[in-house]
Amino acid sequence: MQFYRMHKVCVIPGDGIGPEVMRSALEVLGAITDELSFIETQIGVEAYRKHGKYLTEETIQIIKNTDACLFGAITTPSDPAYRSPLLALRQGLKLYANVRPIVQFLPEKQKLDMVIIRENTEDLYVGLEQEHGNYAVAAKIVSDGACEKIVDFAIRYANEHGRKKITCVHKANVLRKTDGRFVRVFRERMANVDIEAEDMYVDTCALKMVTEPWRFDVVLTLNLYGDILSDLGAGLIGGLGFAPSANLGDNYAIFEPVHGSAPDIAGRDAANPTAMLLSACMMLDYLGMHEKAEMLRNAIVELYRKGVRTKDVGGNVGTAEFTRMVLEQVKSYL
Ligand code: NAI
Ligand code: MG
Repeated sequence: MQFYRMHKVCVIPGDGIGPEVMRSALEVLGAITDELSFIETQIGVEAYRKHGKYLTEETIQIIKNTDACLFGAITTPSDPAYRSPLLALRQGLKLYANVRPIVQFLPEKQKLDMVIIRENTEDLYVGLEQEHGNYAVAAKIVSDGACEKIVDFAIRYANEHGRKKITCVHKANVLRKTDGRFVRVFRERMANVDIEAEDMYVDTCALKMVTEPWRFDVVLTLNLYGDILSDLGAGLIGGLGFAPSANLGDNYAIFEPVHGSAPDIAGRDAANPTAMLLSACMMLDYLGMHEKAEMLRNAIVELYRKGVRTKDVGGNVGTAEFTRMVLEQVKSYL
């Protein structure tokens, strides 16, 4: 008789294509393992409709009481009082590392395998904006503590994943005190580590990611630059339908595709669930279920290798059909 450890997973489908790609992930996860149990909750507009709050204490408790959280995407409402519940979760649960792999699954395109590690709690995203008559000010916060944590995380990540080089991306020539601090901590902590270290201005990095993306291995950067560069990275691999992410802290973790709720394609069976499925793979790895993660990744690689193409990359395969093909492929491995 075999005993399984059940992992509890908090599921937040969200809005727009969020529930569509989440359904795909839950179907596939259900087929490859019986070690996960799911508990569903909502944040954002859906939560507001029910509870009058974009993020409820109950949701925070569910995330805290489960082993990992899988999140789809939410729509930003026009409400001027709105503050992103996702940003609040990243900051409140101290999910200081945002890991965004940029891996090429389309064999007709240039090979690429890099990862962006983004500081996830500070920078311009702390939400300190003020209006003063005819101008406004936003505070950019960069602390020693957050820099140390994210640099140490990147070093651990590189060691665990066989990555050889870390590029620290910043704009310290202009932002001498904030970005300057980040680069200083990077150089100090990399001094005695057996991983190649370089630093680069963010504008140069944007150029080089387009002209010679293969030169990058780990890109370590601050919150805003990481947000922008990861969408650029997604553009290199077929678009947002291929970009997964993990928000990691010392105690909690939220896994989500990089994309938003895509209202332009919602309800049309046109969303590519790959980014969501790859986020689920990152969650399986986090839960120690490496074989299952590898199985699902291999199934996705195999489908693209065989020429299956979703609508976002010029094919005609919809969300449901792609999911059915992934299920068929993983079942052939079981
Ligand atoms: P978006 O990522 O939702 O969409 C950008 C473009 O990429 C659209 O043309 C969309 O159709 C396409 N796209 C995105 N994901 C796709 C997928 N899986 N398959 C095929 N095509 C895909 O960004 P957008 O349009 O700027 O924002 C829409 C809403 O989502 C906004 O309310 C925004 O605030 C929110 N948002 C939420 C995020 C989150 O929940 N983490 C992240 C980014 C945006
Ligand atoms: Mg973004």
